[in-house]
Amino acid sequence: MTGDSAAVPVIAIDGPSGTGKGTVANHVARSLGFHLLDSGALYRVLGIAVAKRGIDLQDVDTVAAVARDLDLEFGSSGPGSIHLNGEDVSLEIRTDLGSDMASRVGAIPQARAALLERQLAFRKPPGLVADGRDMGTVVFPDSILKIYLTASAEERANRRYKQLIDKGMDVKLPALLQDLTERDARDSERSISPLKPAADAFVLDTTTLSEKQVMDRVMEMVSRALEQA
Ligand code: C5P
Repeated sequence: MTGDSAAVPVIAIDGPSGTGKGTVANHVARSLGFHLLDSGALYRVLGIAVAKRGIDLQDVDTVAAVARDLDLEFGSSGPGSIHLNGEDVSLEIRTDLGSDMASRVGAIPQARAALLERQLAFRKPPGLVADGRDMGTVVFPDSILKIYLTASAEERANRRYKQLIDKGMDVKLPALLQDLTERDARDSERSISPLKPAADAFVLDTTTLSEKQVMDRVMEMVSRALEQA
């Protein structure tokens, strides 16, 4: 990291899936005019790239090489869009396969190391909002504000269920809950960068909060952190 990029403020928003992290991170980035890093999307693209090429996950050196060489383009067909080797994979990475493969490649230390530089490169003036699992603990430990959003597994599965039903998808709540619980376990139990709040993170349990209440509390924390930075 250069001296210049270290001066660029980072707001880290971590937590398990289904806590609304992405929506919150988006909102904060837009309100402040900051850049946004959706680090989960990087793990998802890597997972999809590995699956497309039929690479064995035990072959960690090849997975890491794929991670280093990913040819990615962000935002070229709208906000949040991602192209891999010129192909729009924005929807594909959000499938169950994308989620599953992301958490599998995310457990490989060599893959995490290979994605680190790419994540650090998002730190540009005037600032960055970084959304993920280890933004506050590993990638940007000097963030000016670290928020860890959480909610009960049942509530997170319920939210995801409603989102998918609204999109017209045929999903079953028990299967979603099981998938989410398995992914949580894999993310929390891995030896490298396990999912856990940074010691200096504000933990916000959103189980009983509305989206607006979460946004209001987060924006309060953001304003305070920027005043003190
Ligand atoms: O945030 P999202 O649900 O898109 O992340 C998908 C998966 O990618 C997570 O379940 C996790 O295994 C992995 N991930 C990670 N580290 C991050 C972001 C995501 O290991 N910083």
